[in-house]
Amino acid sequence: MHALGIDIGGSGIKAAPVDVATGKFLTERQKLATPRPARPDAIADVVKQLTTSFSWSGPVGITFPGVVTDGVTRTAANLDRAWIGVDAGALFGKATGNPVRVLNDADAAGVAEMTFGAGVGERGTVLMLTFGTGIGSALFTAGTLVPNTEFGHIEIHGEDAEKRASEHAKELHDLSWGKWAGRVDEYLQHVEALLSPHLIIVGGGVSKQADKWVPRLTGIRARIVPAMLLNDAGIVGAAMATASTAAPDSSGSTGAG
Ligand code: BGC
Repeated sequence: MHALGIDIGGSGIKAAPVDVATGKFLTERQKLATPRPARPDAIADVVKQLTTSFSWSGPVGITFPGVVTDGVTRTAANLDRAWIGVDAGALFGKATGNPVRVLNDADAAGVAEMTFGAGVGERGTVLMLTFGTGIGSALFTAGTLVPNTEFGHIEIHGEDAEKRASEHAKELHDLSWGKWAGRVDEYLQHVEALLSPHLIIVGGGVSKQADKWVPRLTGIRARIVPAMLLNDAGIVGAAMATASTAAPDSSGSTGAG
């Protein structure tokens, strides 16, 4: 089965047609900038452009960087607040003219890593964290996802953790790898105290340079490994969600088509 996977991020919107059985892209991915302000209609327009540029007709899976329940976007920490309460399933269904499924971006990335990447065969408590514009989380036990965990927003020193330790925070405050890794280590210690995972998979754009920071995460008991699908996990997980009746957004919205 083939599906178009679209990954909506704070800076870019990426898409590729995916073979859901293998997790492989059918053609090279495309990326467009996230429009600013990142309002629903502007983003739906980019989603439409990407669908058209692949001449796509078939299921479309779309990730969103916020809580998604039953196709409705409930939070939008790094996108426009106008997203709160939007029926994204219906909006994107109309924009693409195809059946769509919408889910949280980190949940999508986590499912892809558990199926094709660093989490294959892991039955214990696994926490996938994505470091990008924000910090996304996906929690698994015995391979089953608890959707919409928002562990990027735990408070550290009175501040939202992602404001201190996301990749964006590294760039914004011009932090060295060492300094930023120290913040990530402190963040992981908090998370470990709450969840005691066996394995932590670290992903997001910054996982491409894992050798610069993962070896510096020394304060954690859990095994820490970089994501294997790197920044493509969101696209793969989005496409996979279309094939499952039990998608991470629970009952799910199918949108139009
Ligand atoms: C959002 C999460 C999202 C993460 C990564 C956070 O700000 O609240 O839902 O998974 O950013 O995009």
